[in-house]
Amino acid sequence: RQQEKEQIVGGHEFAAKLYHYILNNSAEGKPALDYLRSRGFTDSLIETFQIGFAPPHWDTLVQYFVKREFSLPLMEKGALIAAKSSGGYVDKFRNRIMFPIRDARGSVIAFAGRTLGNEQPKYLNSPETALFRKSRVLYNMHAARAEVKRTNQIVVFEGYADVIKAWSAGVHNSVATMGTALTEEHALLMRRSAERIVLCYDGDDAGQSAAYKNLGLLEKAGLDIKIAMLPNKLDADDYVETFGADRFRKEIIEGAVPTEKFRLLHLRRNFNMQDNEAKLRYVRTAIREVIAGIESPTGREHYLKELSSEFSAISSFETMKQETNEIREQEQKKRRNGDNNEFSWNTVRN
Ligand code: GTP
Ligand code: MN
Ligand code: MN
Ligand code: MN
Ligand code: MN
Repeated sequence: RQQEKEQIVGGHEFAAKLYHYILNNSAEGKPALDYLRSRGFTDSLIETFQIGFAPPHWDTLVQYFVKREFSLPLMEKGALIAAKSSGGYVDKFRNRIMFPIRDARGSVIAFAGRTLGNEQPKYLNSPETALFRKSRVLYNMHAARAEVKRTNQIVVFEGYADVIKAWSAGVHNSVATMGTALTEEHALLMRRSAERIVLCYDGDDAGQSAAYKNLGLLEKAGLDIKIAMLPNKLDADDYVETFGADRFRKEIIEGAVPTEKFRLLHLRRNFNMQDNEAKLRYVRTAIREVIAGIESPTGREHYLKELSSEFSAISSFETMKQETNEIREQEQKKRRNGDNNEFSWNTVRN
């Protein structure tokens, strides 16, 4: 079994080298290389991340595996090639830019393959295998490890391209999930390497909602979280290309906001701030959903001051504070009684 795994890793390492060579040195790889360069992937980044290209033929990798005497059934088990119903094998990845995915020790265990155009799916990932469990793998964790330790912090992005461009901008403690949701396992894995997380998800609705959804999970793992906010429609990769490395580091990563601030900003998206009624509803919701839940009195005071200075036409600081305290008292009473108690009390009465 162990030997099988080693052979499958060997197949991946070989494929990564081959794809990388084809990208850099062949006429077939030229359009992919041009595409990558047009997107700001420098030769140095292509080298560091061992980016490659899988040519459009059916059996480039299969033929190399035969020549080098790799076991084809094992390479199929590793999902690098697939068995045809008519017999024989075909490559799993064709006509795609290849991003090798490494495990914590740095061995290549999977690939993500991107189209050069707009075909779907945009990214084709290796399926789960004995070596590749998506809920446990963080892209770039191996290379990020030293900087993660030094900074006690991990920057989490949505995409591979974001991690690579962040790297080029000098942000070396970054990882991404495998195109799947962030799991509890990911959170615990991160907690073993660092105490602080910066979430830097895409600036679109999908990215921001995903960031919001992940907060609870990360907080539960005991991580201290900040959110790096990107302008609408941009992801980290776009931002670095548009505004440059310095602004990315200083304004986006170093400008990451605390979770309370992010929750308030996120909540705002649901209210039309041109309308006074909506402003009032926003203020009340913000107090109930975010501010009343802050444990530190200083923290509550801080966000109440911000809210009351922005919405002074709606309500005063004192009134907002009173409302906050009332909500907290209600919550405390509820907690003292407990939902179960209330239920049994009712049952007794009935
Ligand atoms: P680029 O367009 O190359 O810059 O990619 P991106 O990283 O900006 O992609 P996007 O924001 O659309 O998606 C974020 C991440 O979700 C990607 O890095 C992938 O991991 C994953 N993803 C995106 N599209 C697909 C897809 O079609 N299939 C799968 N399995 N994953 C995807
Ligand atoms: Mn090289
Ligand atoms: Mn996106
Ligand atoms: Mn993106
Ligand atoms: Mn992108």
